[in-house]
Amino acid sequence: MARFETQVGIVGAGPAGLLLSHLLHLKGIHSIVLEAKSRAYCEERVRAGVLEHTSVTMLRRAGVGERLDREGLRHEGIELGLNGVRHRIPFMELTGKCVTVYGQQEVVKDLIAQRLAVGGDVRFECGDVSFEGIQTDKPIIRVSKKGCMDEISCDYIAGCDGFHGISRGAFPEGTLKLYERSYPFAWLGILAEAPPSQQELVYMHHPRGFALYSMRSPRVTRLYLQCSPDEDITGWSDDRIWSELQTRLRCTDGWQPAEGRILQKSVTGMRSFVVEPLQYGRLFLAGDAAHIVPPTGAKGMNLAFADVYYLAGALGSFYHDGDGRRLDSYSETCLKRIWKAQRFSWWMTSLLHRFENESEFDHKRQLAELEYVMMSRAAATSLAENYVGLPLEGM
Ligand code: FAD
Ligand code: PHB
Repeated sequence: MARFETQVGIVGAGPAGLLLSHLLHLKGIHSIVLEAKSRAYCEERVRAGVLEHTSVTMLRRAGVGERLDREGLRHEGIELGLNGVRHRIPFMELTGKCVTVYGQQEVVKDLIAQRLAVGGDVRFECGDVSFEGIQTDKPIIRVSKKGCMDEISCDYIAGCDGFHGISRGAFPEGTLKLYERSYPFAWLGILAEAPPSQQELVYMHHPRGFALYSMRSPRVTRLYLQCSPDEDITGWSDDRIWSELQTRLRCTDGWQPAEGRILQKSVTGMRSFVVEPLQYGRLFLAGDAAHIVPPTGAKGMNLAFADVYYLAGALGSFYHDGDGRRLDSYSETCLKRIWKAQRFSWWMTSLLHRFENESEFDHKRQLAELEYVMMSRAAATSLAENYVGLPLEGM
């Protein structure tokens, strides 16, 4: 058995774990990142694509914004569609801020490269991660690597291992409260080799179900269709996907998505989920390990960044000033933002999807709400303010 020591043991090399490790490094705090999958798997996993302006500022200030600034697509608004007519929500005009479209896997590549360039300790393909003594001041992480068990002694552990990770399960029974809502639909997502045929994202309400037009680069588009939660992807040929996307997205002004080779397709379930609190003893949860939002508001990765920004700041106060108060209030501080993002993601989801078996009253109310957002500057400003990202202290 090999023994290691670090100040912060981080489980998971997703956006949360990697950014935390980097922010800690900038504060002179040592960390070891333990990741179950291979580096290639982490770098290729297609997921989120929209960065709030606060996330962009955070990445830039942390010195990992160079490629993002070069290749990211600056979006100054989005379009909402109803009955084949698009209506623009102008973020810059309403809030003075914008968002950037840059794939999550690109952020992950940049962060891994940055960590490794300065000798950061990021260990891929780790198995059987477990904790001991999280309520003591020297917790231990056990992990198997290439058939050997390693033991890592830490001051703190950050559980950044996503929704299916093990960290949340390490909280003793009865110490976590779960809040959850599931939705009666999922998203069928594709990545297509087709140049964007329009500059901004289109969120389309359609009688056959919601559709989203998004993109990754000047050559690649990303599109989604509302589908059933148990949708069998094998029943969706490329022709069927394009035909359904055209039906839902085609607009009365003649706009329609450009088609191309489908590079990747997958079905993603939708849920809202939060645990409280985010801390037990020396174990802190961050990102999807603690909360999941439906992707309609594009908040998942941004929320993960906000958590680790607070956590890195709190650990900095502890190590540099001997002040543990920000660690004590980490959970409360993060949860305030998390619940606001939950509300917004739930609201965007409710506004835009077709709900099977909904009453005629609810359907009419939904359409009225969408029309209201399209005609009222106050309602559009509320959407814009949440979409570009609520203020983050110090950003
Ligand atoms: P993750 O990215 O999940 O990273 C956790 C890491 O921990 C992973 O690398 C995992 O392999 C590792 N891990 C897990 N268990 C262990 C273990 N036991 N030991 C060691 N390592 C472990 N958000 C949007 O805003 N828009 C989207 O379109 C969108 N699409 C998504 C599609 C899918 C299929 C999923 C799952 C999520 C999607 N999200 C989307 C959400 C967004 O991607 C997440 O919010 C974001 O990845 C959260 O980052 P994280 O670092 O907290 O967790
Ligand atoms: C994406 O580009 O993957 C994307 C964009 C906006 C969303 C969700 C996903 O709301």
